[in-house]
Amino acid sequence: MAGLIPQNFIDDLISRSDIVEVINARVPLKRKGKEYTACCPFHNEKTPSFTVSESKQFYYCFGCHAKGNVIGFLMDYEHLSYVDAIESLAADQHLDVPHEEDSRSHQQRQEKQPLYDILKQASDLFQQQLKTSQRAIDYLKQRGLSGEIARQFKIGYAPEGWDFLVSHLGKSKDHLQALQKTGLVVINDNNKTYDRFRDRIIFPITDQRGRIIGFGGRILDQGEPKYLNSPENAVFHKGYELYGLYETKQALRKIDRIIVVEGYMDVVALAQHGINYAVASLGTATTTEQIQKTFRTTHEIIFCYDGDNAGKKAAWRALENTLSVIRDGMVAKFLFLPEKEDPDTMVRKEGKDAFEQRIKNATTLSEFLFENLKAESDISSKEGKALLASKANKLIQKMHNSLFKDLLIEELSSLVGLSQQHLESRISSADEANRPVSKTIKPVRGQLVQNNKTRIAIALLLQNPSLASHYKVPNNFQNAFTKGLPLLYELQKTIDSNPEISPAALLERFRDSEHEKALNILSMLQTPETDNTDNIKEVYKNLIERLHYDDRDEYFNYKINNNEQLTAEEQKEYLELCTK
Ligand code: UTP
Ligand code: MN
Repeated sequence: MAGLIPQNFIDDLISRSDIVEVINARVPLKRKGKEYTACCPFHNEKTPSFTVSESKQFYYCFGCHAKGNVIGFLMDYEHLSYVDAIESLAADQHLDVPHEEDSRSHQQRQEKQPLYDILKQASDLFQQQLKTSQRAIDYLKQRGLSGEIARQFKIGYAPEGWDFLVSHLGKSKDHLQALQKTGLVVINDNNKTYDRFRDRIIFPITDQRGRIIGFGGRILDQGEPKYLNSPENAVFHKGYELYGLYETKQALRKIDRIIVVEGYMDVVALAQHGINYAVASLGTATTTEQIQKTFRTTHEIIFCYDGDNAGKKAAWRALENTLSVIRDGMVAKFLFLPEKEDPDTMVRKEGKDAFEQRIKNATTLSEFLFENLKAESDISSKEGKALLASKANKLIQKMHNSLFKDLLIEELSSLVGLSQQHLESRISSADEANRPVSKTIKPVRGQLVQNNKTRIAIALLLQNPSLASHYKVPNNFQNAFTKGLPLLYELQKTIDSNPEISPAALLERFRDSEHEKALNILSMLQTPETDNTDNIKEVYKNLIERLHYDDRDEYFNYKINNNEQLTAEEQKEYLELCTK
C-alpha cells in the first residue's frame, strides 16, 4: 500500500491540470459559450448534455447527473482508484507522486513486492505450460473455451510432479521464501518443499491494478478437491477481491451492469459467449467489501445463483450485505437459474441473448426481500404481521438514509398495516448509528428545515473560495442549529489554511466525506446569486449575515418555547437581535 499523498500536492496537481484538456483527450469536446460540451461518456445519448466548465474545473451531465472534478472524471472514466487517478494525472504533468510514507507502510511495500514478482513469474510459467499440455488444451476445448479467452484470462496449467515451481523459480533463498509466502510452495513435516498446484488448470486472480495475487486450480478429471485456491497471504485477501473484475474493466469502458456469479468457470464461460461483465466472489459468500468494490465500478449488480436452497441462502446473504451498502442510484437484482444449472451450463445451452433476457427479467431486491419475508410468516394474522415487521425492520435498519429506504418502509407499511411514522420510529438508520457522538449538545427539534439560503451560500463559497477572506463565516456556525452551517464553517477553515485553493481542489478535500454528494451537486448549482459575478462579495456577505441572524433567531425561539433559561450573555444577544 502506498503511503499518504500530501494534500498540498493534490491541490497543486489539480490547479496545474486543465480538466478541459484531460477530458478532451478522451472525449472530444465542443465549445459552447463559456463551457464545453459532448455526448456524455457515462450514459447513452444522442444530444450532448455533458458539460465541462473551464472556469470552475468541474464537469456535469444534465442527463445522468455524473459530476465531479478532474480526479473524479479519471476515476469514473478509466475505472481507476483514487490513488491511481492521481498517479495518472501526475504522469501527464511529468511529476512523481510523493508519498508520506511511515516506516510501517514502507516495510509492507518492501515485503509485498517480491510476492507480486514471484506470482507473476509463476503465472507466466503456467501459461507456457498450457501450450505444451495437449491434455489441458483438450480439457479447456471440451469446456468450450477458445484460445483467445484463455489468453485474456491468462489461464494456465500446472504440470504434474512435486517441484515444478521450486526447480524453475526457487533459485535463491529469497525466491524460495517468496514462493512459500504466496502459498505456491508448501513445506511438509519433514521440511521438504512441494508445489501446491499439480496437474491442474490454473485461473490467476488479479487485483484492481491487474497484478496477480493468487490462483485457483481446477482438477482435470474427477477428484477432490475440485478446486484448490491460494491461501490468504500478504497480497491476497479473499473477501476483498473479485475474480474477473479487472478483466471486465479492461474489456469495457462503460460498465452498465455487473453480474456476480459463483465460479471461475462461470465468469470465463460467460465471457466466451460475449457476456464480458461477470465477476465471481472467491468461493465465499459475497462480502460487503466486494459489493462496495463492485458498486464503485457500476451502478447495477445482478447476483446470480442456483435456484436450489443453497443458492437462495447465498442470495439472502448477498441481500443483507447489499442493504448496508446501497445508496440511491444503485440497483441490485437477483437471478435464479433452474435447478442443476449454473451460468456456464446455461449460457452454453441457450446462448448470449437468452441469458441476457434472464438478466433483464431478474428479480428486484425489494421483490426478493418481501417475497422471502412473506414466505416466512403468515401475514393473515396479526402475529405474523408483527413478525414480518420486526424482521423487515432489522434489515431496513442496516440501510443508509435514502429514497430507496423510504420506499421499502412504505411498502412494509402497506403490507402490515402500520403507519410509516410508526415504523420509522422503530427504525434507527445506519447513518445515525454510525455517527460519532457529538460533544456539543444540540437542541433537538422535530424536523430540521432544509434552508435554501444555506445551499446558495455553500455553492457561492465552494465556487469562489476567495470569498472566505472577504467575509468570514462566524465561528458559532460550527455548532449552529441550522443544517448546513457547520459545513460552511468547515469550508471556511479549509480555505483559511489554503487561501489560494481552487474550487476543484476544495471539492477534492471532501471526497469520501459525508458531504461529498451534496458538495458535488452544489459545485454546479446556478442561481441568480451565483451568476451575479459583479456583486458577488456583497451578495455573499448579506447571505451569511442573514443566515446568522435566522439561526440565532431559531435557537432563541426554541429555547423560549421550551421554557429554557437564557444565559446572561444570550439575553443580551437576544435583545440586540430583536431590535435589529
Ligand atoms: P462449483 O462447484 O459450483 O464449481 O464451485 P463450478 O464453478 O461450477 O466449476 P466447474 O464448472 O465444475 O468447473 C464454485 C466455486 O466455488 C469454489 C471455486 O471458487 C469455484 O469456482 N470452490 C468449489 C472451491 O474453492 N473449492 C471446491 O472444491 C469447489
Ligand atoms: Mn460449473
